Amino acid sequence: MSKQFDVIVIGGGPGGYIAAIRAAQLGQNVACVDEWKNSQGGPALGGTCTNVGCIPSKALLQSSEHYEQASHHFADHGITVKGLSIDVAKMVARKDTVVKQNNDGIQYLFKKNKVSFFHGRGSFVKASADGYEIKVAGATEETIVGRHIIVATGSNARALPGTPFDEELILSNDGALRINAAPKKLGLIGAGVIGLEMGSVWRRLGTDVTILEGLPTLLGVVDEQIAKEAKKAFDKQGLKIELGVNVGEIKTSKKGVTVTYTSAKGEAKTLEVDKLIVSIGRSPNTTGLNVEAVGLKLDERGAIVVDADCKTNLPGVWAVGDVVRGPMLAHKAEEEGVAVAERIAGQHGHVNFQTIPWVIYTSPEIAWVGRTEQQLKADGVAYKAGTFPFLANGRARALGDTTGMVKMLADAKTDEILGVHIVGPMASELIAECVMAMEFRASSEDIARICHAHPSLSESTKEAALAVDKRTLNF
Ligand code: FAD
Ligand code: NAI
Repeated sequence: MSKQFDVIVIGGGPGGYIAAIRAAQLGQNVACVDEWKNSQGGPALGGTCTNVGCIPSKALLQSSEHYEQASHHFADHGITVKGLSIDVAKMVARKDTVVKQNNDGIQYLFKKNKVSFFHGRGSFVKASADGYEIKVAGATEETIVGRHIIVATGSNARALPGTPFDEELILSNDGALRINAAPKKLGLIGAGVIGLEMGSVWRRLGTDVTILEGLPTLLGVVDEQIAKEAKKAFDKQGLKIELGVNVGEIKTSKKGVTVTYTSAKGEAKTLEVDKLIVSIGRSPNTTGLNVEAVGLKLDERGAIVVDADCKTNLPGVWAVGDVVRGPMLAHKAEEEGVAVAERIAGQHGHVNFQTIPWVIYTSPEIAWVGRTEQQLKADGVAYKAGTFPFLANGRARALGDTTGMVKMLADAKTDEILGVHIVGPMASELIAECVMAMEFRASSEDIARICHAHPSLSESTKEAALAVDKRTLNF
């Protein structure tokens, strides 16, 4: 007799494991099936985010930022470093330890919340009287039955046509996070989030980094003023970004990788590099789910079709995270996972897609929530804008990091905050206040009237709010 569960979650990334924990908190009998293997073949819960995404990339960004600070910025503080060097293998090993702490943390949370974990690939067998039969193929094979199924199988890196990842010379995010010696020359295709973050890691460690981007502008989704400010900083750092290119043939040899491409001006060019990271976006992953067995509907991109509540075309089958529409972000996946678990329990789970923050963990960091100035113009919304530069913030001066600004956009009539865009130090942390403000539909005046600690970077958010009303105090 197959084991019966109220909820079976397929996928143990941020969408899946959080959904499983929330469903268990609400009294459901929950199983989570995840196939990710660590280097010993054991389970490694946490999905892309924990194993080859958010967590390892931020570990490497932190290590490389320390090196950058010691190499170029400690001297400003009167600190002399002699014989500075970096042991890249050790940096990568530290990253692996951070990943393992997160893997183990999720296993602990499953035990604590009594979520039954199955290590292996989950696939649909058929609908049955008690719900859906799911086959788990791991070290052994078994079938379990769930009244509700939450699919959270995530996404995979997209390869360039005709250039598959070999993870030695042509790297996806997986291989990119396992480079264990600084290459002399590194190429990246795509100046999106991964391109800029991974390009920054290796540029800081002395690698000659070139990023080839197909679009004529950098970071088209970011507020134009903020993207321009970020580009200025990247140029100053020596991160080479070529915009508007058309990538042609890619050849590998013992020496490395040769990329032929056409520049924005139409010149035929070649780029010779030791390794090439291809970061041109990700595709939803439904490989091996056997969706045909139950008739689960996919769209033309291969994403599972869901409504605003994450319901699929099948009763009792839900899908969340990267495998469905919307931004491919860990916190978006988590919010959807929580909301679905609450809906299954008869509650009114809710995700506000208007207040999902974005962060790019470069230096300076870029973070935003809500609409950009360009979107407001396109939507015909009358708005007021206020900006405040970190150059005029005492804490930023003390930190020695005055790049960038906070920009606040508010409705011209009601003063409701419609978007906040930050480029500068700790933008990833500063954005939280702005998300909260927008969630509570605050006005710029609300932020301007709140007491912010001094000296703190967050005073720049308050000053940007004051700037909306043209009454900054420190600029
Ligand atoms: P995933 O995390 O992809 O998890 C899916 C899980 O399902 C995996 O463990 C997979 O093995 C498993 N699985 C798939 N099919 C099956 C099956 N049939 N049976 C069993 N198991 C299966 N987002 C941020 O918000 N912040 C960041 O800083 C950030 N940095 C990133 C850096 C990089 C390099 C990359 C690649 C991504 C980054 N992301 C970041 C995006 C983030 O990782 C994803 O949005 C997030 O992981 C999506 O969560 P998910 O649960 O939908 O899927
Ligand atoms: P992306 O969508 O951010 O960027 C891809 C870039 O590649 C775009 O600028 C696009 O114009 C360009 N491109 C596409 N095809 C090209 C081609 N043939 N030649 C040249 N350029 C081309 O995708 P990326 O960087 O792969 O990241 C995938 C996703 O992972 C992100 O969209 C994001 O959702 C998530 N992520 C989030 C992070 C964060 O939150 N800090 C960090 C890293 C990834």
